[in-house]
Amino acid sequence: MVESAAEKVRSIETPEGTFTIRLILDDLGSIYPGMIRYTVEVLCGTETVYTYAINSYEVPPASLFDARQAAEIVFSRLAHDVAARPRIYPRPRVFTRQLPGSGTADVVILQGSPRRSGNSARIASWCDDEVARADLSSRVFFLQEMEIRPCIGCYTCYDYGYCPVDDDMPRIIRALESASVLVVCTPVYTGTVPATLKAVIDRCQWLHAREKVLGSEVHARGLLVAVAGRRGTEPFVCVTRVVDAFMGNLGIRPAGPVLIGDLDRARDVSGIEGVEGDVRAALRPLLPEKKNNISRVPHR
Ligand SMILES: Cc1cc2nc3c(=O)[nH]c(=O)nc-3n(C[C@H](O)[C@H](O)[C@H](O)COP(=O)(O)O)c2cc1C
Repeated sequence: MVESAAEKVRSIETPEGTFTIRLILDDLGSIYPGMIRYTVEVLCGTETVYTYAINSYEVPPASLFDARQAAEIVFSRLAHDVAARPRIYPRPRVFTRQLPGSGTADVVILQGSPRRSGNSARIASWCDDEVARADLSSRVFFLQEMEIRPCIGCYTCYDYGYCPVDDDMPRIIRALESASVLVVCTPVYTGTVPATLKAVIDRCQWLHAREKVLGSEVHARGLLVAVAGRRGTEPFVCVTRVVDAFMGNLGIRPAGPVLIGDLDRARDVSGIEGVEGDVRAALRPLLPEKKNNISRVPHR
């Protein structure tokens, strides 16, 4: 729950009409300890024509000004500017980039291996097929083939509900926002997930921000299918933790993972007896029922 309070209000009469400048404080402490967002709004009459926002996590420790001081400076600067050149303000400016409007699916499959024809890709194809058999739609993202940049830790997603890094990530966010199931297919790389998948996981902080700030909720189930060269459970310790944290952050409920080791010797996952059936059996109960062409999340 976000607690809002107007900290400061100033009214400015101009030949273009009456403007109001507001400094609003939102307590985002329910998201992260001590997180506060300051929003400065310019209204022309009752219409918001300009918005500036900054939060306390976005400002690094060695900054000259903290978030509140920065917001106060913007407030004063805007008050001066609105009075000096009111004619530029009545036209509202759009600050929230729209996510791409299409490309939703019942099931989103993140294929985290750089190898297009590797084991994770094969597992992704089994999952894709299992979804099609249930007469549902799926989207497989081959992450290595997308332009995904790492999170820059700017925290602006908690201000506006969008990420300023301009790449292919909105397609994934859009798909995840409406999916009923998320499947993560990944190899173990040096004890954890490959770098591109980790970048996607970190960038999904944006989806966490959208959920917490804009109230858009993800009601999905999750499944991890991981492959490793070595035998036993040890190679998967970190991967399962990372993917659990990822899903937990987004409110996605994970089912028990499917962990397939010893691939340095076996090489090809499709040559291991029973594995395809195990993957399909793990996914099947998570799939929503299809009714009258409208799929829905199973009752929980
Ligand atoms: C850079 C790199 C790091 C790896 N690190 C591990 C590891 O820490 N533990 C392990 O068991 N296997 C490791 N492997 C082996 C892969 O997990 C294994 O070959 C897997 O089957 C590859 O999956 P893919 O075919 O989907 O790419 C590593 C492979 C690579 C290329």
